[in-house]
Amino acid sequence: MKEKWNQRYAAKDFVYGTEPNLFFKELIDKTKPGKLLLPAEGEGRNAVYAASMGWEVHAFDYSTVAVNKGLDFAKSKGVTINYFSGDFENFNTTEKFDLIALLYTHMEPRLKKLFLGNLHNFLKPEGKIIAEFFSKEQIHNNTGGPQDIDLLYSLDEVKTLFSFMKQDLAVQETIWLEEGLLHVGKSDVIRLIMSNT
Ligand SMILES: C[S@@+](CC[C@H](N)C(=O)[O-])C[C@H]1O[C@@H](n2cnc3c(N)ncnc32)[C@H](O)[C@@H]1O
Repeated sequence: MKEKWNQRYAAKDFVYGTEPNLFFKELIDKTKPGKLLLPAEGEGRNAVYAASMGWEVHAFDYSTVAVNKGLDFAKSKGVTINYFSGDFENFNTTEKFDLIALLYTHMEPRLKKLFLGNLHNFLKPEGKIIAEFFSKEQIHNNTGGPQDIDLLYSLDEVKTLFSFMKQDLAVQETIWLEEGLLHVGKSDVIRLIMSNT
């Protein structure tokens, strides 16, 4: 899988575009900047936008090609991001974040429990998690995302995974995506905003 991502990102084009995810941008635009974690950040579109808005950005991805592309993108935009190579499997840090943004972070059920189930430990007391994932309905669309139903999410599943958090928003929606070459068209997603307290 990691090799597949490395090959995908080796293209000169930004496969998910250079603009941030819109749901994420909406929150960033109305939130006082702080410390942000972006797991599986790909080519850096969200990291670079948040850094340009004054956030201290930490990000990781297991694709080293993605990390290098993201760092080059940040440099070209004159912003600094702390982007490192890392896996959901063994993610750990002593940092505490104001915001953790999960944008199309799809993973097997074992990792959903291991990684997502522990994420609240890396939040500050007032911290929030925002997420946009493909829902299981996305399997019927040909507009992006994994073709493996186990890697997609249901609303009940995310409500259980994050049951320890206050769920300010937890909805399933059909939206129109236009994100680079690979997220294009009518898409079924889950959107979450959750707070630690
Ligand atoms: C659909 S892309 C999303 C990229 C980015 N979040 C965005 O919205 O543009 C999914 C990303 O997950 C990364 N990924 C997949 N499995 C991973 C794992 N086990 N650990 C870390 N990153 C992973 C891939 O390398 C890829 O960059």
